[in-house]
Amino acid sequence: MKSLSRSQYILDNMRNAMQPNSHASRRISAVAMAVALSSPLAAATPDERAKALEARMTPEEQQALVHGIMALPIVPGTVMPPDAIPGAGYVPGVPRLGIPALKETDASLGVSYVSGMRKDGATALPSAALMGATWNPDLLREGGAMIGGEARAKGFNVLLAGGVNLVRDPRNGRNFEYFGEDPLHSGILAGAAVTGVQSAGVISTVKHFAVNAQETGRQILNSKIGEAAARESDLLAFEIAIERGQPGAVMCAYNRVNGDYSCENAELLDRTLKRDWGYPGFVMSDWGAVHGVEAAIAGLDQQSGAQLDKQVWFGAPLKQKVASDPAYAARLRDMNRRILRSMIAANVIDNPPVKAAIDFEKNAAVARRVADEGIVLLRNRGVLPLVAGARSIAVIGGYADTGVLSGGGSSQVAEEGGPAAVIPMGGEGPFAFLRSAYFHKSPPLAAIRARAKGAAVTFNDGSYVADAARTAARADVAIVFATQWMMEGYDVADLGLPNGQDALIEAVAQANPNTIVVLQTGGPVLMPWLDKTAAVVEAWYPGARGGDAIAAVLFGEVNPSGKLPVTFPASYDQLPRPRIPGWDTIDKSFDGTGNEGKLLDVDYDIEGSDVGYRWFARKGEKPLFPFGHGLSYTDFRFGDLKLSGGNSLTARFTVTNSGKVAGKEVAQAYLLSGPQGTTRRLIGFAKVDLKPGESKVVTITADPRLLAQWDKPRHGWRLNGGRYAIGVGGSSADLPLTGEAVVAPRTIAP
Ligand code: GLC
Repeated sequence: MKSLSRSQYILDNMRNAMQPNSHASRRISAVAMAVALSSPLAAATPDERAKALEARMTPEEQQALVHGIMALPIVPGTVMPPDAIPGAGYVPGVPRLGIPALKETDASLGVSYVSGMRKDGATALPSAALMGATWNPDLLREGGAMIGGEARAKGFNVLLAGGVNLVRDPRNGRNFEYFGEDPLHSGILAGAAVTGVQSAGVISTVKHFAVNAQETGRQILNSKIGEAAARESDLLAFEIAIERGQPGAVMCAYNRVNGDYSCENAELLDRTLKRDWGYPGFVMSDWGAVHGVEAAIAGLDQQSGAQLDKQVWFGAPLKQKVASDPAYAARLRDMNRRILRSMIAANVIDNPPVKAAIDFEKNAAVARRVADEGIVLLRNRGVLPLVAGARSIAVIGGYADTGVLSGGGSSQVAEEGGPAAVIPMGGEGPFAFLRSAYFHKSPPLAAIRARAKGAAVTFNDGSYVADAARTAARADVAIVFATQWMMEGYDVADLGLPNGQDALIEAVAQANPNTIVVLQTGGPVLMPWLDKTAAVVEAWYPGARGGDAIAAVLFGEVNPSGKLPVTFPASYDQLPRPRIPGWDTIDKSFDGTGNEGKLLDVDYDIEGSDVGYRWFARKGEKPLFPFGHGLSYTDFRFGDLKLSGGNSLTARFTVTNSGKVAGKEVAQAYLLSGPQGTTRRLIGFAKVDLKPGESKVVTITADPRLLAQWDKPRHGWRLNGGRYAIGVGGSSADLPLTGEAVVAPRTIAP
C-alpha cells in the first residue's frame, strides 16, 4: 500500500469523516476538526500549510522572518546569534511554531569558505562557466546535490546558488559564476543545478534578478533594456530556471533595471515574477541592496544582510507601515506565507538539517566528473592526446606545481585545511580580505607526471620568459599554463592574459612548435599567440580535482566533450560595448563607496536579446571561437534530419561517432530564420555518448517561446505562422544539417 505522508493521512481521514453519516463523522467532533485544521500538518500542500502557520503568528512573530543579518563578524556591531553558523546569512525563526532560523551559506560552486572564519572546508565544484561548458544537466543536478548535501551536513538550510545572469560582457568579474550567454542553455543548466541542491533538503536561490551583467558600479548601475529584449533574454533564462528548478527563493540584484532598483522593482518582482510567472516562493534581497521600506510593496519579501543597509527597513519601519497601512499589513502576511511555503516545500521544517560527516573523497569525485566534461579542447594540431611516448615534457607557469585556480568573492570555496595557496591580489576597504586568489589542492604537474610514463617532466614557473623559453626548447612538448583570476565586485580591465602571460606563451611557442596552452580563466580571453600553438585547452576554474581532470584530457584518458557556453571574441570592437561602461569614471572598489549619488546607465538595448553569438550573427562578425565550439579526439557525423512543424517545431536526426575512440557530442539545434527574418537562436541541445561507429537518434522539440517574439502590447508571446529554417550540428558555427518546417501561428501567455 502506498505510504502516505502524515499530513496526507490526516487529510484522508478528515475527508472520510466528512462523508455524510459515516461512522467516522460521528466520532470526529467540530473541536477535533478545528484542532486538526489548525495543525500545520493538516493542510496538505506547502501553500495551505504555510497559510495555516502564518495565521498563527503574533504581530511580533510576523517580523521575525522578513529580515536577516550577514552572519559574519565583519561589520562593526554585528551580534552573532548563539545558534548562527558563520556564513552568508541568518534569519531568526519562530521557535513557538516550530519554524527554524534560516541559516544561509553561499553559493553556486560549493559551501563558501568565508576566509576560513568557520575553520572548515568544502568541496569545490568547477566554475559555473565550466559547468556551462558541460551542456549536461544531469551532471549539474548531481553537482548541485553534492554541494547541497555539504551545506546541509554543515547545518545550513539555505544555499545561495543558482547564479543565472547571462554573460553580456566577457570582462564581467562574475562570469565564472554564470553558465553562459544563451537563455535556454543557462535556464536548463541552472534549473538542473537548483533541482540538485534542493534534492539535498536545503532551499536554493536563483540570482541575481535581473540584468546584472557587469560588476563595475554594480550598486549604481542602471540596466536599460526594453521589455521584449529582457523577456527574450535575461528574463527567459530566469523563467526557464525557475520552471525547471522551482527554487525556494529568488535573489534580486544590486543594480537598477529601467530606473528602479531590482529589489524594489514592481515590474520585475510583482508583475513579471509573481503575477506573470506565478512564482510561489519568496524574493530575498542581495546583501546591502535594500534602499527603503517601500521595497516590500514592490514585491521584496526578505531583507538580507540588513546591517549592510542604511536601516533594517523590514524591522521598525515596516512595523510602523503595517500598523498604519492595510496594504503593508496584507503584504507582510504574504511575505511570511511565501517564506514559510518555501521552507515547507524544501522540507527544512519537517526535516531540519542535522550536522553530519562529509565524505570528501566521494564528493571530490563528483567535482572531477564535472570537470572532465567541461574542459574544452579549442584547438588541436594533432599534438593531443599526448601519447605516453613523449620523452620530455616541459610544464610552465600558472602555478601548475601548486594547484588550480578558483574565483573570488562570496562564492569562494576552499577545501578542508584551506587552499593549496592564497595569493593576495591587493585592494583596499573592509572587503579587501576577499581579494586573494585561491588555488585548490590539485596540482596539474603531479597529475601530468603520474601519466607521463618514462618521460622527463620539467617544471618552470614562468617568472622569467627567456628562461621558460629555453626550458621549452629542450623538451619534446611544452605545456604552458595561463591564469586569469576573476572575483565578484570587479571586472577585468581587458581580455589579455594578465602579468605578461601572453608574452610568455608567445616565447614558449616560438621556442617549441609543440606548445600546448592550458587556460584557467573566468571567461573568454584574447589569444594573440594562437596561430603559433599546437593546441589550446580551456579548463576554466576546474575545481577540487581540476589538475587530474586537465591531465586526463591531455593524455586522452578523458576524451574532451566540453563546448563553449560563451563566445570568445577576436577583438573588443566586436563587442556591443568595446569599453566597460563607467570603467574610467567611477569608483571601482568592492562596495563602491565613492559612487554615492552617482548613476551609471548601461544601454543593453544595443544588442537587446541578441546576446553573445546572436550579436555576432546579427553583425556578421567572426569570433575567435564560437558559442558551442569544442573539439574531440574522435569525429562525429550528423545525418537524416527530419523536421516537423505545427504547434511547435521538432527536429529529429542521427549523430554518429565516425572516429576511432568513444566520445560525447553535444548536438545543437538553432533557429536560423523565420517569418520575422534571419536570426540565430539555440532551440535545443542533447549530449550523446557514442562508441566508435555507434549512432543515436536525437529528437529536439523547440519550446515555442524560442520561436516567438515577446509582444509588449499584448503582454505575451506571439509566434508568427510560417516557414522556420533550422540548422543542426556540433557548434553554432558548424551546422551541417539544415531544413525548414511550417509552424502555425499562436499566442502564448507570459
Ligand atoms: C553578495 C553576492 C551574492 C551573495 C550574497 C551573500 O554580495 O552578490 O551573490 O549570495 O552577497 O554573500
